[in-house]
Amino acid sequence: MRFDVFTLFPGMFAGVFDDSILQRARAAGLVEIFTHNIRAFTRDKHHVCDDTPYGGGGGMVMKVEPIFEAVENILGVEAQARPPLILMTPQGRVLDTAIARAYARQPRVALLCGHYEGIDERVRALVNDEISIGDYVLTGGEIPAMALIDAIARFIPGVVGDPGAPHQDSHATGLLEYPQYTRPLEFRDMRVPDILLSGHHAQIEQWRRNQALGRTLERRPDLLAQANLSETDKKVLRELGWQDNQTR
Ligand SMILES: C[S@@+](CC[C@H](N)C(=O)[O-])C[C@H]1O[C@@H](n2cnc3c(N)ncnc32)[C@H](O)[C@@H]1O
Repeated sequence: MRFDVFTLFPGMFAGVFDDSILQRARAAGLVEIFTHNIRAFTRDKHHVCDDTPYGGGGGMVMKVEPIFEAVENILGVEAQARPPLILMTPQGRVLDTAIARAYARQPRVALLCGHYEGIDERVRALVNDEISIGDYVLTGGEIPAMALIDAIARFIPGVVGDPGAPHQDSHATGLLEYPQYTRPLEFRDMRVPDILLSGHHAQIEQWRRNQALGRTLERRPDLLAQANLSETDKKVLRELGWQDNQTR
């Protein structure tokens, strides 16, 4: 899958994509990430990319022309033939597993990072989707773009060593994940639960499911309204104090 990122600060992406799982995915040809410096698409002598807002007020606004130039040069002038362009903005749909999974099925996706006070509103004419990484405001769209690329990449087959893992993680199943342990067996009086040493796979699966249910009820009961719950799950939850209608 190919990602094209439009940004004023391509240097911010070095490091994040040059290490660990994403670096391996790039080396294996599963993921390609191209950053495009919007400043390179200015036509004036000083390469100006931002200006003061019409109507007054503080801060600077990213100019419309260099962004159109950059997108049309890299993705093409024919809007229908372009890959989807996602604007990173706190005003967009809040990123979740369903969004990441859906984009992982695309061969190519482009991301546009705002900065300063934001971008000229007319840039939205270029954009196919708007995504936020949460209800807070960061200084720029670069970190949100990295988060989105990472979340999408995990669903590309081969990127994560265990192909089943992304589908069992917190949120992918509709629940928070069960607790995980590795060696040593004991650390400062904290011992790994005996069931995990028992070798009874069915019982371990049931324990993990119950832990996931209990943990979700305790920390994110709102998720239970959308989770795919069996009758056994509901019985476990009721024993823990859940009422079927409490989260709906
Ligand atoms: C300081 S913010 C501008 C916020 C804008 N004035 C507003 O209130 O909607 C600068 C840029 O950071 C990015 N950004 C900030 N918070 C974000 C979030 N939660 N999700 C996605 N992008 C975000 C966007 O690209 C935005 O254009």
